[in-house]
Amino acid sequence: MSLKVGVLTGGGDCPGLNPAIRGLVFRGLDHGFEFVGLEEGWRGLVEGLTLPLGLEQVQSIINQGGTILGTSRTNPFKKEGYFERCLATWKNLGLDALVAMGGEDTLGVATRLFTEHGLHVVGVPKTMDNDLSATDFTFGFDTSVTVAVDAAERLVDTGRSHRRIMVLEVMGRHAGWVALYTGIASGADWTLLPENPDIDLAAMCEHLKKVHARKKYALVIASEGIKVPGQESAKEELDDFGHMILRSRGVGPELTALLERETGIESRYAVIGHMQRGGSPTLFDRMLGTRVGYKAADLIAEGDWGKMAALRGNDVIGVPLEEATAQLKIVPPEWSRFLETFSK
Ligand code: F6P
Repeated sequence: MSLKVGVLTGGGDCPGLNPAIRGLVFRGLDHGFEFVGLEEGWRGLVEGLTLPLGLEQVQSIINQGGTILGTSRTNPFKKEGYFERCLATWKNLGLDALVAMGGEDTLGVATRLFTEHGLHVVGVPKTMDNDLSATDFTFGFDTSVTVAVDAAERLVDTGRSHRRIMVLEVMGRHAGWVALYTGIASGADWTLLPENPDIDLAAMCEHLKKVHARKKYALVIASEGIKVPGQESAKEELDDFGHMILRSRGVGPELTALLERETGIESRYAVIGHMQRGGSPTLFDRMLGTRVGYKAADLIAEGDWGKMAALRGNDVIGVPLEEATAQLKIVPPEWSRFLETFSK
């Protein structure tokens, strides 16, 4: 059954994309598929940008960060005529199916292509933010948190030497999963999540002073999505999907200056930003990427359209794309209670 399958990676890149592309192609070859890479996310389908995609391209990418297909935050439903150009590219390439690897935005487009236009699409979940519903974890998350924990531990060393409060700002967009796991795994003294907007500054400073007196340093993990008490609202910059671009908010510097003022303890910060998006994928992300890519090929072979390969426990199953893109998966309250235990 020689199907011609288009493959794209959209949105923020992350480690695990290449293992996923590799898993898809290896399993697809079992099914006799022919693949064509669409370059730079949905832009590739809009502009007909293609890349060769076969054994040769994927055989040695299991340990490579980034994506060999390139990516962008292009929304084919945003601009006049973009969708029609997508249909034309699909026809010109003679595609039988398309695999979209992405987060809520990219898979949101895939959902509409299936539900509104009946196109044969299958989704592969990907985001370092782990904020995609209907799947337990997304690849990219484990590597990004591993990088953040390493950074936190380096901050502890210099903080302890200089008797300082150290603040680490991590990515994660509007969900606090990255900050949560980084906070717990690095033994942070305080962790700030966007899901808890009301920051109790007095309690936080009291606690940090107590910890500093005990350990001669303190570590704070802050998600880029929080609002620092008293911080002016930054001018909103929106991307193609209407998301506020967070890089301009400067949570790290603002929070650190506030803590130094309020506690009287010298404080410093680090913003690791895109360093969490690069580098070789961890074991977990290589395995998860490979398995969801492999599953996507089987979903195509079964003609199970409009599905996403999701991790449930230790199984990889097909779930409706609508379920995955219906709402953002944010950190539930029980995790915040869990965190409180470690603020002693
Ligand atoms: O969604 C992944 C992510 O890294 C977010 O954590 C972050 O807010 C955003 O992308 C950064 O986007 P960009 O790479 O376009 O600046």
